[in-house]
Amino acid sequence: MSIVRFGVSLEKELFEALNNYTSKNQFANRSQAIRHLINNNIVTSKWQCNNTVAGSITLVYDHHKRDLGTRLTRLQHHYHDVILSSQHFHLDSDMCMEIIAVKGKAVILTELADKLIALKGIQHGKLTMSKAD
Ligand code: NI
Repeated sequence: MSIVRFGVSLEKELFEALNNYTSKNQFANRSQAIRHLINNNIVTSKWQCNNTVAGSITLVYDHHKRDLGTRLTRLQHHYHDVILSSQHFHLDSDMCMEIIAVKGKAVILTELADKLIALKGIQHGKLTMSKAD
């Protein structure tokens, strides 16, 4: 197996979080910890692609961002066949949280979540999936 070396730039806080994660889980070094994180997040989700899964997409955003509400709605209508329901919470005068319950092929849910999270103005987004078949 050939090994590739590359440099990574991280915010100081993220770097400290990585150090904590490495020591807390007793990885030999940071490379080992990063390898584990990549495996968990990329390889595992690829494996899940063939399965029907149920999950949720959580989005946090500022509702003042121009056109964001319209774009969120348009995307969700486009994927209506995998969306079970959605719930909107007004967190404070600016921020909103939306939780979208989904069920379908993992590859489709990942595609939808990636598109939603990539929308300009989304501050935080996360997809969680559980096997459902
Ligand atoms: Ni709101």
